[in-house]
Amino acid sequence: MNNEKYIREDERTPEDLRDIRMEIDVLSNANGSAYIECGGNKIIVGVYGPREIHQKKYSKNYGAVLRCKYNMAPFSVKQRKKSGYDRRAAEISKLITEALKPCILLEKYPRSSIDISIEVLEASGGTRCLGIVGASLALADAEIPMKDLISACAVGKIDDHIILDPSEYEDNNGQADLPIAMMQRSKNITLLQMDGKLTHEEFIRGMNLGMKGCKIINDMQRELLIKKYNGGIE
Ligand code: CDP
Repeated sequence: MNNEKYIREDERTPEDLRDIRMEIDVLSNANGSAYIECGGNKIIVGVYGPREIHQKKYSKNYGAVLRCKYNMAPFSVKQRKKSGYDRRAAEISKLITEALKPCILLEKYPRSSIDISIEVLEASGGTRCLGIVGASLALADAEIPMKDLISACAVGKIDDHIILDPSEYEDNNGQADLPIAMMQRSKNITLLQMDGKLTHEEFIRGMNLGMKGCKIINDMQRELLIKKYNGGIE
């Protein structure tokens, strides 16, 4: 399939991300926060911590416990979602926690917790990846020491074309979905999921495209943080 000439339902080329807007320091009561809009997605993230854990059974002597909660507001999707923590939210919370863990210097804060709340206000495909991008920014905003920023984006397949950052329509009607999160400096992949069917060649092409998308998002994250904390001086 000629990927170059393929134009998507929202007029993007296969290699285009949706427009992204990121902000940090949007909440006054959290230690760090971020807000992300991407296509029809609106996601807000708050970080609390590191805070001392008083109950011994929940604390770890060798480092902070990372607790991440992904939640979709009832009004975030077209068909009102029942409020509360369902199986999907529990699974996504777990995988986001695991995706973020390798980049945080948890060992610096024994017997403490770092809590991340990801609230999806409007969902339109790709919320787990955007949640990771927002959480990474909010952690930096909270000045929690990290080895690297984590960026994330998904790759999909629709009409036999490999595409970057599937929209909700493409997510629902596509042939495959491949969310990726990575640390930019070390190139370590910290999240890789796949639904659907890809050939080996499509998988390699999809990974390369996803890594390209992560790099673009990482540049945006860095630019935002540099602007905020260095007055624009790199
Ligand atoms: O959002 P993400 O692609 O990471 O996760 P998904 O489980 O593949 O969901 C894809 C999209 O389906 C979401 O972004 C929502 O737009 C939509 N969705 C929904 O309409 N109702 C739900 N209960 C869950 C997801």
